[in-house]
Amino acid sequence: MTQASPNPVFPRTRMRRTRQATWSRTMVAENTLSAADFIWPIFIIEGENRTEPVTSMPGVERMTIDIAVRRVEEATDLGIPCVALFPNIDSSLRTPACEEAWNPDNLVCRATRAIKKAVPEIGVMEDVALDPYNALGHDGIVAGQTIVNDESITALVKQALVQAEAGANIIGPSDMMDGRIGAIRDALEAAGHSDIILLSYAAKYASAFYGPFRDAVGASGKLTGDKKTYQMDPLNTDEALREVSLDLSEGADMVMVKPGMPYLDICRRVKDTFGVPTFAYQTSGEYAMLEAAAANGWLDREKVMMESLYAFKRAGCDGMLTYYAVEAAKQLMR
Ligand code: PBG
Repeated sequence: MTQASPNPVFPRTRMRRTRQATWSRTMVAENTLSAADFIWPIFIIEGENRTEPVTSMPGVERMTIDIAVRRVEEATDLGIPCVALFPNIDSSLRTPACEEAWNPDNLVCRATRAIKKAVPEIGVMEDVALDPYNALGHDGIVAGQTIVNDESITALVKQALVQAEAGANIIGPSDMMDGRIGAIRDALEAAGHSDIILLSYAAKYASAFYGPFRDAVGASGKLTGDKKTYQMDPLNTDEALREVSLDLSEGADMVMVKPGMPYLDICRRVKDTFGVPTFAYQTSGEYAMLEAAAANGWLDREKVMMESLYAFKRAGCDGMLTYYAVEAAKQLMR
């Protein structure tokens, strides 16, 4: 903390002077929040002109590609620079080998093409992980009781390549296999996709805050066991720095900490240590938690929404994935 000269004592110092009005508070605000900080995650389903509510995430809907295109147009008009697409595919396409993940015409690749065609100026991010395609709900290939690392990487590389072909701008590996960033980066370079940004879910914890997301992508019922052998132990922080360091050395352009709100200490350490573009994921569980309290009248919804987003900026994040992106962007325009 820089302290050029000590504060004179009261009443020479009155901390409340700069807090007296909106204009003075605005002048001394140390951080800012704008729509440019948001990546908006959306859930895609098959079909036409249809939405489905996600029960555990009130206000969030799964949507067909045509509706997603319209919503993304609106988001762009609000100044949101990027959307992250998550597919909820038919159960019959979820297999132990997860082949649908590298079908060039899978749901999320078709959504990417449609969105990039209609709204070329928005950044499209796709997740690399096998869970939406896996009959067993895991992010990697399951062999017996094990989520096998190296076989999973082979699959993840194929998945990343079809996403790049479809026009994704950002690829976000969220699987937490060891060595996947390097393998994906090399494969992208070899295929001529040298502009793809890798936003690595670098410090991703084995968290119970992902529950509602797994409902949203239809993976909850499939998942056997937990993800503790590949996602991080919530008790660790030094390990997060090692994860980030490895991913950067393997070719990540930006890194993510996930979940967000309960892991702001990690965001701060990552930003201070590496000084690279650092994002947080305000997860489905964090959203659900705020929504549930607001629905009961226990919290002021709009105020906690904004305050929860300010927290990420204060913790050093350059931006955040948030289900509140559209609403918060509207509020920021007022
Ligand atoms: C898939 C993935 C998950 C999330 C983003 N990508 C779930 C998980 O790892 O189980 C969570 C997002 C959220 O909770 O909002 N690997």
